[in-house]
Amino acid sequence: MTKHPLLNEVQDGSRLKIISEKFGTPLYTYFGEILCQNLDRIDTALHENFDKYQIYYAVKSNNNPNLLAFMHQHLPTLGADCSSPGELLVAERASIPFTNCVYTGNYESMGDLKCAFDSGCEINLDDETSFTRLKSIGIPEYISFRLNPGVGKGRFAEIVTGGRKAKFGIPVENIAAVYKSALTDGVKTFGLQCHSGSAILDQNHFIENTQLILKTARHIENTIDHRLLKISIGSGFGIPYADDEDPLNFKVVFGLVAEVFKKFYGQHQHDWPILCIEPGRALVGDAGILLAQVTGVKDSYKTFIGLDAGMETLMRPALYGAVHRIYKVGARREEKNMIVDVTGRICENTDRLAVDIPFPVVVEGDLIAIMDTGAYGYAMAHQFNTRPRPAELLVDKDGSRLIRSRETIEDIIRKCDT
Ligand code: LLP
Repeated sequence: MTKHPLLNEVQDGSRLKIISEKFGTPLYTYFGEILCQNLDRIDTALHENFDKYQIYYAVKSNNNPNLLAFMHQHLPTLGADCSSPGELLVAERASIPFTNCVYTGNYESMGDLKCAFDSGCEINLDDETSFTRLKSIGIPEYISFRLNPGVGKGRFAEIVTGGRKAKFGIPVENIAAVYKSALTDGVKTFGLQCHSGSAILDQNHFIENTQLILKTARHIENTIDHRLLKISIGSGFGIPYADDEDPLNFKVVFGLVAEVFKKFYGQHQHDWPILCIEPGRALVGDAGILLAQVTGVKDSYKTFIGLDAGMETLMRPALYGAVHRIYKVGARREEKNMIVDVTGRICENTDRLAVDIPFPVVVEGDLIAIMDTGAYGYAMAHQFNTRPRPAELLVDKDGSRLIRSRETIEDIIRKCDT
């Protein structure tokens, strides 16, 4: 069991109260110090175990270009994993060179593929049919394909991306033939990628997944008589969302992944392909807090705490039943003597941020912190009920700065002006 790195910040509450008064709520607040620690932890663990590796930050988890620029300044080798032309633009705004970006889409349109091809980034294709479309635009020197290893894992069924029900990747049985035809078509060098699920805290998954990938890599290498240059094991690196969960120990995880590489490619690292990973959540997840204000407390058949943030601000609970720790800001050891649902202002009964949780007494105007919302928080926020999306703030040693201003109602309807 480990304490949340921002628990003191929330329990003390003085800085968060000042911030919320200055910038308003709901407000996604990110802590630079945690971002840097997360980058260092992963980079150091990789460095200790691999001579050749590349981290591609999964832009989909948090697409704020200023946040990405901050991370890139701290770790200049950081690349970006992009799944749309928009995410490529975010990487560019953060000054990440396209040569350090990989485009991993699925069911890509011709427009998507052209944008990826023209940027000069690496392209990781989800299917043979994607390659057929890409060929009519151009044939890149290097390409990788996404493997569906036939199994996957994830914190919720909805975020498992490998296995027979998953829409992603090429079945293990078919993939070597796809490389063979790409070679015939003129591709010179290759990589292999697999991302089979998200929010995983079981370190064995990463070992088993690497074994499946390298077994397939060997089969591909034998079929096309070429060595693969890069192996991306995707991501899925989870974070604790509850007090009784432990974080992954990345030194152990990458030590075990390196053992698998050794088994397949031998003792000498110069014979190994470059290991690539695409973390999103593990870099930004616990660095973000969603700050919201209590707008109403209601005793009905259940007790509801209503906030100025709801499923439109943070979709994960309504979409997956995801659980986030929620605290009253500035409360050290207040008794949690109410059992409540935490909800927002949306006209949907799935509008919940928490269900049946013990909570201290709150009144209208109290400040609430929803933890671990740096990943898939703002990125999945929407405007249902014509609610503008929140602002985003970065707190670092130089103070607090707005990195995305609050959307206005006018912003939402502007596109209707014809
Ligand atoms: N690489 C690829 C190809 C991906 O599709 C994803 C996430 C990642 C990397 C980053 O995975 P991570 O490091 O975050 O595990 N909205 C869900 C998560 C969906 C993840 C989609 N793909 C959530 O809120 O939990």
